[in-house]
Amino acid sequence: MRRPFVAGNWKMNLDLARGRELVGAICAGVKSASRVDVAVCPPYVYLASIAEVTRGSAVVVGSQDVYYESQGAFTGEVSAAMLADVGAQYVIIGHSERRHTIGHLEDDRMINLKVRATRRAGLVPILCIGETLSERKSSQTLDVLTYQVRAGLVGVTLDRPEQLVIAYEPVWAIGTGEVATPEQAQEAHAHTRSELRAVLGSVGDEIRILYGGSMKPDNAAVLLAQPDVDGGLIGGASLKADSFLGIVSAAVAATA
Ligand code: 13P
Repeated sequence: MRRPFVAGNWKMNLDLARGRELVGAICAGVKSASRVDVAVCPPYVYLASIAEVTRGSAVVVGSQDVYYESQGAFTGEVSAAMLADVGAQYVIIGHSERRHTIGHLEDDRMINLKVRATRRAGLVPILCIGETLSERKSSQTLDVLTYQVRAGLVGVTLDRPEQLVIAYEPVWAIGTGEVATPEQAQEAHAHTRSELRAVLGSVGDEIRILYGGSMKPDNAAVLLAQPDVDGGLIGGASLKADSFLGIVSAAVAATA
């Protein structure tokens, strides 16, 4: 069985004091012996400080983005090596808010360069994929996932399955309170896994595929019970210790 992974994407929320308090409570609530991996992904400027709070705990930190060049005249950008330097272990790449809403309009080519740069620096990409509402309504969901997986992973090779995480985040379920049904999630995850197998070989069977989109403590168990749902990428519910830890507990229970 794949070891579940629950990651909190704080997006552009909290301040430093509240972030440190939150991660302290999460570290206290996640027992080192628990059977899941747990990460929090704060804004860049808080990464080093939040990583310091997690030291010695079972919780690790990730960033919400990265730039694909290693250094140079790229004002405002941050390289994967810089993220590693301040203690990040994971990097969210291609989040739908960056693909569609922030105005950077990241395309799959740029996302692929970011995945490769992240791997080169020894960090683990969390590659986000997912269809918009209009794509779902026009029955394009599986084609979109195929394209995003294949384009995102061009030139990527793995020695071990832990070196890559995929997050299936249906755009229509993000921050809306509308959650994919367990059947919709399983269909998307199983399809994604077959694409991973086609691109990467049998290691695709062991790569964790997280669900993201209005996952909460009260709907986590049914989603995590699906055979190809290996954890969650959590937005709103990651901003409070009790709701985030509730999802971590559901992931622990799913391993029983
Ligand atoms: P919500 O959990 O707030 O829907 O956000 C999901 C998400 O975008 C995680 O990356």
